[in-house]
Amino acid sequence: MDRIRITGGRPLTGEIPIGGAKNAALPLMAASLLTPETLTLVNLPSVADIHAMANLLAELGVKTEKDADARSIAMTGDAVSETTAPYDIVRKMRASVLVLGPLLARFGKARVSLPGGCAIGTRPVDLHLKALEQMGATIELAGGYIDAHVDGRLKGAHILFPSITVGGTENILMAAALAEGETVIANAAREPEVTDLACCLQAMGAQITGIGSDTLHVTGVDALKSATHNIVPDRIETGTYAVAAAITGGDVLLKHAEMASNEAVFGHLMRAGVDVTETDDGIRIARKNGRIRGVDVMTEPYPGFPTDMQAQFMALLTLAEGASMITESIFENRFMHVPELLRMGADINVHGASAIVRGVKKLSGAPVMATDLRASVSLVLAGLAADGVTEVNRVYHLDRGYECIEQKLAACGAEIERVPE
Ligand code: EPZ
Repeated sequence: MDRIRITGGRPLTGEIPIGGAKNAALPLMAASLLTPETLTLVNLPSVADIHAMANLLAELGVKTEKDADARSIAMTGDAVSETTAPYDIVRKMRASVLVLGPLLARFGKARVSLPGGCAIGTRPVDLHLKALEQMGATIELAGGYIDAHVDGRLKGAHILFPSITVGGTENILMAAALAEGETVIANAAREPEVTDLACCLQAMGAQITGIGSDTLHVTGVDALKSATHNIVPDRIETGTYAVAAAITGGDVLLKHAEMASNEAVFGHLMRAGVDVTETDDGIRIARKNGRIRGVDVMTEPYPGFPTDMQAQFMALLTLAEGASMITESIFENRFMHVPELLRMGADINVHGASAIVRGVKKLSGAPVMATDLRASVSLVLAGLAADGVTEVNRVYHLDRGYECIEQKLAACGAEIERVPE
């Protein structure tokens, strides 16, 4: 298995291009199942999870044409012949469950392998299933599969999510677009990726109001049509490289990055003493004066601080002046990076859902590994600032969500390379 080797201590300077958001692209690709016409997505990131979703859709019968130069994919669902998402694909990528709502809405049936727990928590999909049942679906769980069908069309319903779910909101939004009558989704997730999906569905002919709020109203239509949609910039990639600039005391322009979708992360960076400036073509991140200051962080649904930035921020705060408290309120097991950061010399104590991070003056390079995407990248960030050599193992986690990470960092002066096995 490939490793990433980093020799730390180089301040990053230069420009890093930010790609389209993986977590927006995944549901947008699933939306191609809603229509026999062509959905074209522009600004598609080239990462492993996107390739896995493309494979799943191809298996279901969606025809895809990629244009590498334009970074776009055209998906046509006129010959979808299969409605089963098999275990082998779903176990590798949980977002496969996003095909459930579209398949059920258009074909009246879907069989999707039940995603198991994963490194960051148990992650059930009960809220997706309850909402689809409210819309008239019959759902059985058997042999590790979700077996769902509906006689005729799904029916509009009043869905109140008892807690906020990004994937649940996306699945129901897609299902409601083709349901009979009006669906109200209350306590909906407001993540920019949900908003991006709603805007794309609108371009496909869906009738949706309340976009960007916690209550979405969807009036179902008989059919959706062809559209071309530009995927939003990846706010988590943006935040990750912002931390890379900050942790190394660098000065980096994050090209195409947006301020609006990243206010919580940028606000915390500014409180920690990092300069964040909006420019014509992106966001500039600079830390010129001394050490980072400790800040407290609590992960929350959008617009709160994203759980997908918690590990990266922890890496930064290991080097802060003073103590910080980091509380993870979304996932029950998302501190898998802590033991690895400890091996690099960090001072962190975990108490339940909170971690106290006492800043140290330096980290030292070490061989490390992590069990999920964001935990892995937090170790890359720590390695960029550490004395000596850090080797991050299990690079396939990074490849799920970061495109050309070593090239992007090396272009700004990082000493980083991929070591093939
Ligand atoms: C999305 O996952 C993201 N994935 C995750 O990013 C992200 O961490 C998460 O939202 C929270 O922001 C994609 O967009 C593909 P949820 P999702 O449903 O939709 C519980 C990354 O690193 N829950 O909002 O699966 C659940 O267990 C990934 O890019 C239920 O109990 O997250 C969790 O504790 C990791 N029942 C909480 O809700 C359900 O039916 C939020 O989960 C659904 C969720």
